[in-house]
Amino acid sequence: MAKDIKTIGVLTSGGDAPGMNAVTRAVVRTALAKGMRVMGIRKGFAGLITGDIFEMDARSVSDTIQRGGTILHTARCPEFINKEVQERGAEMCRVFGIDGVVVIGGDGSFQGAEKLANLGINTIGIPGTIDLDIACTDYTIGFDTAVNTAMEAIDKIRDTSTSHERCSIVEVMGRNAGYIALWCGIVNGAEYIFLPERENISENDLIRRILENREKGKKHNLIIVAEGVGGSTELAERIEKVTGISARATILGHLQRGGSPTAVDRMHASMMGAVAVELLAEGKSNRVVAYKDGKYIDIDINEALKMEKNIDDYHVEVSRLLETR
Ligand code: ADP
Ligand code: F6P
Repeated sequence: MAKDIKTIGVLTSGGDAPGMNAVTRAVVRTALAKGMRVMGIRKGFAGLITGDIFEMDARSVSDTIQRGGTILHTARCPEFINKEVQERGAEMCRVFGIDGVVVIGGDGSFQGAEKLANLGINTIGIPGTIDLDIACTDYTIGFDTAVNTAMEAIDKIRDTSTSHERCSIVEVMGRNAGYIALWCGIVNGAEYIFLPERENISENDLIRRILENREKGKKHNLIIVAEGVGGSTELAERIEKVTGISARATILGHLQRGGSPTAVDRMHASMMGAVAVELLAEGKSNRVVAYKDGKYIDIDINEALKMEKNIDDYHVEVSRLLETR
């Protein structure tokens, strides 16, 4: 018989992402509406094992839907890979009367959620990461805000780059995934996008392209480099040395993780938070909420973790067609 869920816990884990507060809000409000109690767990699995846990009411999430970061705070807790630490986490749930936990984070956090599920705590994962690198879902909360933040920053870099007739190399986040780079490359009109998922052109070919474009009258150059490729500072130095064109590298860094979430992020966050609570209410466990082909679905965590994410071939093809030549 499915476990009757009376009290749920909610935590955010791994890197924060804009929209995590909107998920927390949706989890809290949906659970309260269904007559459940809600416990907030601070600092991800780190707060779970130390009992950094507090009761949440409807007011706990007031005025948070528009706020970046996560009011629950987040942490990386490497020791949670140890069985005895996971058992301490499950025991802490029992101490606080928590029957089910919503884990908002990426693939790493889902592995932690799976371990808790195996120890008898019903768990549901919600994809929250700016990287869009979770295979089971078409969308991860935070991506749209991060891409818009990066796009606006790159537009600004472009202004000064044009004024000085420079070559700008901009490195964007994404860990081993190139989604932010690919999207920025297309929406900012880059001359080339270095992606970790593809073989990229040689540096000689890139330099040849830059010089040819200058001959055609181009006043600036914009190259996007994904974090997973890296080396943007050194690339800028070599381009300047070989071409004589002034080149600057900008690593956008953590500004991509902050800021007020876009409508897209708030919407997915609200829907996924509600779906997660519905799943717990139905007695489900070890599931991830996913957005697939326009619908919210749930998938077994183990299955989800086995899936491989591939960058879309057609997006890459179009990005290559649009690169200035
Ligand atoms: P993300 O969730 O964004 O992928 P991480 O990979 O840093 O971020 O993982 C977040 C946290 O999830 C880790 O700090 C750890 O507490 C937990 N975690 C990651 N991998 C495992 C694992 N194999 N077993 C148990 N917990 C894990
Ligand atoms: O997963 C989100 C992310 O911002 C990645 O894009 C990046 O590689 C990583 O986290 C940075 O982590 P930290 O906050 O530990 O510097």
